[in-house]
Formats: sequence, C-alpha cells, structure tokens
Amino acid sequence: MQKRVYIETYGCQMNEHDSERILRLLGTCHYIETKEPDEADFILVNTCSVREKPEQKVYSALGRFRHLKEGRGAIIGVAGCVAQQEGDRLLSRIPYLDLVIGTHAIHLLPQMLEQFEVSGQKVSETEFDTGVDYLRETLPLTSQGKVKSYVTIMQGCDRFCSYCVVPYVRGREKSRPSGEILEEIKSHAASGVKEICLLGQNVNGYGKGLEGEPGFSELLHRINEMKGIERIRFTTSHPADLSEELIQCFGKLEKLCEHFHLPFQSGSDRILERMNRGYTRESYIEKIDRLREVCPSIAITADVIVGFPGEEEKDFEETLDLMKKVRFDDLFSFKYSPRKGTRAAGLGDQMEEQVKQERLEFLQKIQKEITLQKNQILEGRIEEVLVEGYSKQSERDVTGRTRTNKTANFEGDLGLVGCLIVVRITQAYAHSLRGEIVPSDCGMPNADCGMKTLNL
Ligand code: SAH
Ligand code: SF4
Ligand code: F3S
Repeated sequence: MQKRVYIETYGCQMNEHDSERILRLLGTCHYIETKEPDEADFILVNTCSVREKPEQKVYSALGRFRHLKEGRGAIIGVAGCVAQQEGDRLLSRIPYLDLVIGTHAIHLLPQMLEQFEVSGQKVSETEFDTGVDYLRETLPLTSQGKVKSYVTIMQGCDRFCSYCVVPYVRGREKSRPSGEILEEIKSHAASGVKEICLLGQNVNGYGKGLEGEPGFSELLHRINEMKGIERIRFTTSHPADLSEELIQCFGKLEKLCEHFHLPFQSGSDRILERMNRGYTRESYIEKIDRLREVCPSIAITADVIVGFPGEEEKDFEETLDLMKKVRFDDLFSFKYSPRKGTRAAGLGDQMEEQVKQERLEFLQKIQKEITLQKNQILEGRIEEVLVEGYSKQSERDVTGRTRTNKTANFEGDLGLVGCLIVVRITQAYAHSLRGEIVPSDCGMPNADCGMKTLNL
C-alpha cells in the first residue's frame, strides 16, 4: 500500500541533501512525498542544532504536528543534528515522538519504521559507528529532471572551532573515495544534471587520511574533465586549509564557477584565536586578494559571528573594518549562541543579548548597502544563467543563478530549464538581479543551448 511522507528540513545543505537521500530511500519501501503534513502517514523533522534558534524551531514544528499523531495516527520522527545530540532524551521529552534517527543512521530508517509499525515501541538509533557507510547505503538512485545536484565528498569535521557543535553531531572528518564521487557525478550527468555542488564542512581538507587518493584541487581537475557537467561549485571552505593550489584552480578550470564562500567569523585576531580558527585577519585578507588576482570577477561571500564571549567594541570594529576592506558580495551574520559541550560555552565572559543584537543589526545595515552596490556594478553586464524553473514572483519569468551564484530573473518559459542562457542585467536589487535574454554571438562560452531553444 502506498504511504505518504512529509519532511521538514532545517539547517545546512548537508541536511537538505540528507532529506533527499531519505526520500529516495523511503521510495523503495512504498512511501511517496507529500508537501501536506495533514495527509502524511509519516512526518519527519530533519533538524539543526548549530544555534539556539534553529534548535528551538524543531520543538515548535513538532508541536504543530502533535494533533496529526493524536488524530490520524501519523508516525512522527526526528532526524539530523538535534536527534544526534539529544538521542533518547527527545523520546522522553516529547511523548508523541516515535522515532529518533541520528546523523549516521539514515540508512536504517526503513527498518526502524517497520520495527515501530510491528511493535508500536518507540525506536532510537544514534550510534556513530553503525558498521555501515551510510552515504554509500543511501546513494542517489536517480536525479532525473534535476538541473543541479549536491554530492557529498566528506562527512564530519575535525577542526573544533570553539563555538561549534558540528564535530560533536556529525562526527570525525571522513573523506569519500574519489572513485565513488566521480561515479556519482557521472550518473548525475547522464540524467541531465548540469551543475554539481560538492558538499562537506571543510571541503578544502578533502583527502586527508585517504592513501593514494587525490587532494581537493586534483578532484576538481578530474570533475572539470567530465562530459555533461557544465558548472562546479563547492561548500564550505576553511581559510586555514585554503591552498595556493586551490586558488590557482580558479584561473584554470573553466567549469569552476566564480564564487567562493569563505567564512571569516571575526575580524579580530584575539577573537579568532579564542575561536580556535587557526588563521589571522591578515592571512585571511591575503587569501581574498590572491583569489581576486587569479580571478578578478570572483564573488566572495562569508559567515561572521558577532558577540563571541569577550568580544570588545574594538574587536567588533575590526570585524566591520575587515568587511569594509573585503567588500563581500553577501554575508551571513549570526549572533553567537552558546552550544552545549563546546569550549566557548564554558567561557566566563558571555555577552549580553542586547549588545549582540545591536552589533548584529549595525553590521547587517552596512552589509546590505555593500551587497546592493556589488549587485549594481553588474547592471548592463552580460551574465550566464543556468535556468532552474519559474520565478516565485511570476510565471512569466524564469529564475536561475549566475556563475557568481546570484539569483537572476528574466522573461522566459519552462523550455529554458536546464539551459545556460546569456542574460544582460537590467536592474539590481539587494537579493536578486533582473535581466533580459541577449542574442548569441556575444562571446560567452556555452551560450548555444538556450539560444537554440529560442531560435535567436
Ligand atoms: N563548516 C562550515 C559551516 C559551519 S555552520 C564552516 O566552517 O564555515 C555555519 C555557520 O554557523 C558558521 O560558519 C558560523 O558562522 C555559524 N555558527 C556556528 N556555530 C555557531 C554558534 N555557536 N553561534 C553562532 N553562529 C554559529
Ligand atoms: Fe564548525 Fe569550524 Fe567545523 Fe565549520 S570548520 S563545521 S565552524 S568546527
Ligand atoms: Fe546544522 Fe547540523 Fe548542518 S548542526 S548546520 S544541520 S551539520
């Protein structure tokens, strides 16, 4: 009998990708996806515990689904990083919860569901070492109809930044053998996928501990050779592991998109040291300068934390100063949030909420202007856009990303999905660009596909 599963996902791309894997896996045991929790037989919340806010969302989401358990007997489960962190405690804390699935246990989900259905007993699995490679067990079976796909190249993180819970909830860093990665990408390409995003908490460290395997830069070279794949991206990088060899890739590999997400977290050396980040503001700025030398059109984005314990006014000013020097295309900014079990949570000089909030708002106001100015520079310029579908605003417009990872909307129809279209930017906004299709012979590589569709 066909059953329906509803998944709600919080957190990073890693979690989004895990949700995709879970959906495919459940597809093999008679579940189809529904976007309506009210009609689901199984409701799964895939959770994030990186800050307090996403963690709290989990409890409110579960509250919303409670009546579906009580009313129509839906099975309720929690996966992801909160599941890993809290384990069985979640089952006692939330009486209507049935399943807890840790980050390394998603391949066990079909068995867990069956066990629950047969016995009616709550089930929890949060072992890191389940004896099985969960990534291999949940390999994507098909990516038909998709324009871009994520490919996990490593799991976990060994960097132990003092504020961060990820190493505790995702485990030790472990790279996947390159052969498996390349096979997976080949199958995506065969299904028509054009863009690949390589995923890991610290992709620059790829290959550590793998004998005779390529490092990250060599892996990029090999993917660049693959037929069918037109664009390569990766996330996330760590400044201490960003090598000159990787920087050089941006001058050599034509499929590597001109965008680098390089979190800096703080502009103050004193705070960077307390965060255990392993680099200085100067070395960070040097790396950005090198990236821009090798690839002048590269877009740079980053993450930053304000209100880390002991952050003084002068430390915060150094963060603002770094932002003004680098002029990021976009910045993801967060208030420091103490996380259980991390070193920074035990520091005595935690900051007042109000100061954190004020600093965050001040920083975001400055960045908003920089982002808009960065986008405005693109007005009148020609950009290549990979079309993903209709835009959210209007069905007369399609939407996609530029190589620099900016959202661009322009008039067109679904026949363009999966095509690389050459677009002239006509208007820049804070969060997107508006453009119009330009005829070919504009000198852009890969421009033929959309032009043929349009007979221009
Ligand atoms: N591995 C990636 C991303 C980790 S989580 C990296 O190293 O860049 C994404 C972002 O959340 C981090 O870059 C950081 O800016 C933020 N973050 C992590 N822990 C946090 C905490 N305890 N409080 C506030 N922000 C945090
Ligand atoms: Fe967390 Fe640092 Fe690892 Fe990123 S590199 S996941 S911030 S410990
Ligand atoms: Fe969140 Fe876990 Fe990702 S804590 S950021 S979902 S690795």
